[in-house]
Amino acid sequence: QAAVLTLDGPGGAGKGTISRLIAERLGWHLLDSGALYRLTAQAAVKHGVSFDDEPALARLAETLDVTFLAEDSVTRVMLEGEDVSTAIRTEAAGERASQVAVLPAVRQALLARQRDFRQMPGLVADGRDMGTVVFPDAPLKIFLTASAEERARRRFLQLQEAGENASLPSLLKEIQARDARDMQRAVAPLKPAHDAIELDTTELAIPDVVDHIQR
Ligand code: C5P
Repeated sequence: QAAVLTLDGPGGAGKGTISRLIAERLGWHLLDSGALYRLTAQAAVKHGVSFDDEPALARLAETLDVTFLAEDSVTRVMLEGEDVSTAIRTEAAGERASQVAVLPAVRQALLARQRDFRQMPGLVADGRDMGTVVFPDAPLKIFLTASAEERARRRFLQLQEAGENASLPSLLKEIQARDARDMQRAVAPLKPAHDAIELDTTELAIPDVVDHIQR
């Protein structure tokens, strides 16, 4: 079976960028599991499925028609043939993703799909429960953290760069609300696996984190 490196942690800890860099360096596959929750929520909006209809949401998750197209440094995400790369990255889309992510049937429906990403020569898996639930036998598990203030600041800079309006205080509030929901849910709450290495990136630059993990 192919090797897996799991990277879990709250939003804005740098998992996305770091996972991509490590996958590139190793020539391994990459699983952005958050995208699957974002896509499930996106599909629900598109098909008018209510966010409290758990069985219908689980069916959507199970039959999600999605393709990840790797281009130079970005990955294009197609939902039912439509490019939703930007649409699923908004704050609102993240909020909706964390709402469908509390539903056990949705998480169950996405389980097999996530495990299918484990292919030779290896997989870097980015998410909240990669080391605890999806790949509990992964030989190397990293749990990335950073203070909520620092994560809000990073998100703020990202949005500014994208030319979007943002306010730092409201981003901080959203991040804290999302953390609370992710950590308090009954199924697969956000927490480090017992055998994970915890890394606080508050004061670390991306290249330092990548070097640290590779060592
Ligand atoms: O990582 P990202 O911000 O794209 O994730 C969006 C939301 O999806 C998270 O806030 C979380 O609620 C959910 N998620 C999850 N389990 C994962 C990945 C994401 O519950 N493995």
